[in-house]
Amino acid sequence: MHDIIHELDRRREAARLGGGQKRIDSQHAKGRLTARERIEVLLDEGTFEEWDMFKAHRCNDFGMQDQQIPGDGVVTGYGTINGRVVFIFSQDFTVFGGSLSETHAEKICKVMDHAMKVGAPVIGLNDSGGARIQEGVASLGGYADVFQRNVMASGVIPQISLIMGPCAGGAVYSPAMTDFIFMVKDSSYMFVTGPEVVKTVTHEEVTAEELGGAVTHNTKSGVADMAFENDVEALMMTRRLFNYLPLSNREKAPVRPTSDPTDRIELSLDTLVPDNANKPYDMKELLLKVADDGDFFELQPDYAKNIVIGLARMEGSTVGIIANQPLVLAGCLDIKSSIKAARFVRFCDAFNIPVVTFVDVPGFMPGTSQEYGGIIKHGAKLLYAYAECTVPKVTVITRKAYGGAYDVMSSKHLRGDVNLAWPSAEIAVMGPKGAVEIIFRDEKNDPAKIAEREAEYKAKFANPFVAGARGFIDDVIQPHETRKRICRSLAMLRDKQLDNPWRKHGNIPL
Ligand code: HXC
Repeated sequence: MHDIIHELDRRREAARLGGGQKRIDSQHAKGRLTARERIEVLLDEGTFEEWDMFKAHRCNDFGMQDQQIPGDGVVTGYGTINGRVVFIFSQDFTVFGGSLSETHAEKICKVMDHAMKVGAPVIGLNDSGGARIQEGVASLGGYADVFQRNVMASGVIPQISLIMGPCAGGAVYSPAMTDFIFMVKDSSYMFVTGPEVVKTVTHEEVTAEELGGAVTHNTKSGVADMAFENDVEALMMTRRLFNYLPLSNREKAPVRPTSDPTDRIELSLDTLVPDNANKPYDMKELLLKVADDGDFFELQPDYAKNIVIGLARMEGSTVGIIANQPLVLAGCLDIKSSIKAARFVRFCDAFNIPVVTFVDVPGFMPGTSQEYGGIIKHGAKLLYAYAECTVPKVTVITRKAYGGAYDVMSSKHLRGDVNLAWPSAEIAVMGPKGAVEIIFRDEKNDPAKIAEREAEYKAKFANPFVAGARGFIDDVIQPHETRKRICRSLAMLRDKQLDNPWRKHGNIPL
């Protein structure tokens, strides 16, 4: 008996060593943690239950039969984050470069299947050279098996991807289908084709970092949601994100008790909106002042900054926040911001997270690049997302709500539950200048007359009371009481029930 136990210990020890000390040292030299060290940082101490530690590949080509490393390049299992269950796979770059073999894929699929059964999120730590070259199509099949599960799990359990090393070729499509992608700066990259292929095909010369590094995907492509300085920071922030989320679409997000009073008055908000309607202000100041304890977890902070998205808590419960940002492009909706916000609204809707929207939007961005780029279709994504969304929706218009963008931004007409406006709100088809230029075109050569018309238009429409008179706005509120009014609305809506008609699925303008 003693020998058998000793044998188990020996086998475990061998598996834990992965591709060996030399390769572990090389991983550390690159500033990266190993697959197991990452799991240790991510999960509550001592909670990791590992599965398939002894699973081995079945490849007999290219001398692979003589190279067996137990676990086959990915560490899988489950554990807890702040006491809540989560399933994990962590690719081990020290074993065949973390490349994905048929058995490696089977291990990932096993944790995904269990996560779906019990209703718990999956977090994937990606660090891989891609398809295991020695296995050919068996490896490609393995990827597709993972992809299929990503899709089936979408909207059922939260899926989070951390990119902590290479992630290239078709392998990028698994993270791409998860809810959030976090990357590590100067250490991770994602691209469909690498710099060498790019050079051959398009004659462009780019480094891996320029082509698909964390900064690229967090500022240019919008593929990733956040970028971090190192592995530890990325893992700690993943724990923070996880705390906001429900375990599955069958549950509500956890409630974190707070001592922040729901009726907290913020007098400084009364002067947030400048007297001059063309002057910007920082919408984030408002978000920080209404959220519990000033705690706002912003997502995609460096991409399409004209819209702000992220998670916060109100009275302890998670809410998704979407807010136009007047500091950037005057808060206009354009292609990138529409897509960014639409995907987030749909995430919140899928996972029972109420949506709080702050509106200061002068309209959709004009221009050929927007029209040629398909702003019609992409703007429609946001409209569609808000319109199909059935979770509680609370909207606060702080200043401009013009044109189609008024409709889109969680208006009453798109089943907004509680729509509030500040006294500074301007709800109209367009701003006074544009409106007067069109309806009083004949008077355009008479500046005094035009000024008079503008003042007339402004007095009539640049306020919240016209919309209020129609019931499109439920109430006009003092800015300083915004937190209280939102908290009350959300409390009233806690047991909201609303279903869309049955259908196989809608046809969102992709
Ligand atoms: C098998 C691989 C591998 C792979 C790396 N290794 N990638 N083994 N299949 N795909 C092995 C290496 O042989 C090496 O083994 C060890 O992992 C570490 O690799 P290095 O090259 O020494 O590391 P580094 O210099 O850091 O370079 C990392 C790398 C490079 C950039 C990822 O290894 C690389 O370019 N690999 C090939 C990438 C690739 O073309 N993959 C297929 C993409 S197509 P030893 O024994 O020396 O330590 C694809 C399709 C997916 O993935 C389709 C889904 C639909």
